[in-house]
Amino acid sequence: MWGGRFAAGPASIMREINASIPFDKRLWKQDIAGSKAHVAMLAKQGIVEGEDAQAITEGLNRIAAEYEADGVPVDLDLEDIHMVTESRLAQLIGPTAGRLHTARSRNDQVATDFRLWVRDAIDEVQAGLIGLQRALLARAGDHADAVMPGFTHLQSAQPVTLGHHLMAYYEMVRRDRSRFADARARADECPLGAAALAGTGFPIDRHATAAALGFARPTDNSLDSVSDRDFALDYLMAATQASLHLSRLAEEFIIWASQPFGFVKLPDAYSTGSSIMPQKRNPDAAELVRGHAGRIMGCMTALCVTMKGLPLAYSKDMQDDKPPVFEAHDLLALSIAAMTGMVETVTFRTDRMRGLAESGFATATDLADWLVREGGIPFREAHHITGRAVAAAEAAGVPLDQLPIATLQEIDGRIDDRIYAVLTVDASVASRMSHGGTAPAQVRARIAQAQEELG
Ligand code: ARG
Repeated sequence: MWGGRFAAGPASIMREINASIPFDKRLWKQDIAGSKAHVAMLAKQGIVEGEDAQAITEGLNRIAAEYEADGVPVDLDLEDIHMVTESRLAQLIGPTAGRLHTARSRNDQVATDFRLWVRDAIDEVQAGLIGLQRALLARAGDHADAVMPGFTHLQSAQPVTLGHHLMAYYEMVRRDRSRFADARARADECPLGAAALAGTGFPIDRHATAAALGFARPTDNSLDSVSDRDFALDYLMAATQASLHLSRLAEEFIIWASQPFGFVKLPDAYSTGSSIMPQKRNPDAAELVRGHAGRIMGCMTALCVTMKGLPLAYSKDMQDDKPPVFEAHDLLALSIAAMTGMVETVTFRTDRMRGLAESGFATATDLADWLVREGGIPFREAHHITGRAVAAAEAAGVPLDQLPIATLQEIDGRIDDRIYAVLTVDASVASRMSHGGTAPAQVRARIAQAQEELG
């Protein structure tokens, strides 16, 4: 009764759920490169005739030119980039095209293509992160002496310098780069030649195809080769970590741009206005970087959950590996570019930062440290004495360094007027010369070293 109407239904739904061409067309360059390396090896090993290999290579070159000029045609019937390319090859050179798929399966083909793609994506991210590091270094160098409040619990804690604060993000990005470098090194093995899952009886040379595609070596287990997506997860995990750092920096800019803080003025180029409130200047780009980190983490989670519990070897679930990686990569590339632009162009209101650093009793620790150093007082007792000095300053409505010496001596007779030399914010930061400390001299030394690291 309804069979006539439904007869075409399952077929067209199947076609739709099965096809990956709408997204895996992004792998076309890698797919052509993999096929060219494969057919060259087949010819060298005497598995296909030299003439046939040449016709196939020329056909692949022509297809690459077509894709470059017009894009990849999305034909759901042809499922994926591998079949779209192979069927176009058959149109161009006839049945010889069918020899390309000797000793190969789409399972090792897609694993190879995707590794090549992830490798290029890592190189692109690395270049972006180097740009961000350079921007951070330049601004940190300009502000190595600029005093600002350092926070713990978002409460003014001790004075630090803006240069030191920015260099903290340089260190995060340095670790991100090392994670991406690790991911790339682990991905540097070529699965091509694992075939469907068990290897092949043809006398192929997997070392030759691995080398031709710029991999360090072939993979060592055919089952693992076609079912391993660690390289994609490594990428997503490194991307997640990097996006968390970008999100933290974005959050600082958002807080700093708020009126109560007023530490920065974000450039027009990275702000938006409000259609109703004319005074508004919203840090949308920073907010979106903060938001994108959530989506990138979601992409990582998606692929973890896809891979969890899959038996060896290939299962079609694994076709779902590509959309989250593509999405995360696009979001990360955009986030890096936006944060780099903001770091380069933000206006730091260093007078406002200094004013706040001076107003929050931020040098209380310096008073306690002085009592330890000069008075031989145990730190816990010095902490207590300092607490009373802070209470007195608060009651009098003045900063610590404006408390009269008489008041301080009433609190503890061992205090004398040498104390005023350590109570200023400049003296406080200058004293923090421990390795990695906020003293301008330390910050400058780290910047110089970092400049060498970057080359
Ligand atoms: N489009 C597929 C994917 O991305 C290619 C591999 C298909 N292999 C298969 N046995 N159906 O995973």
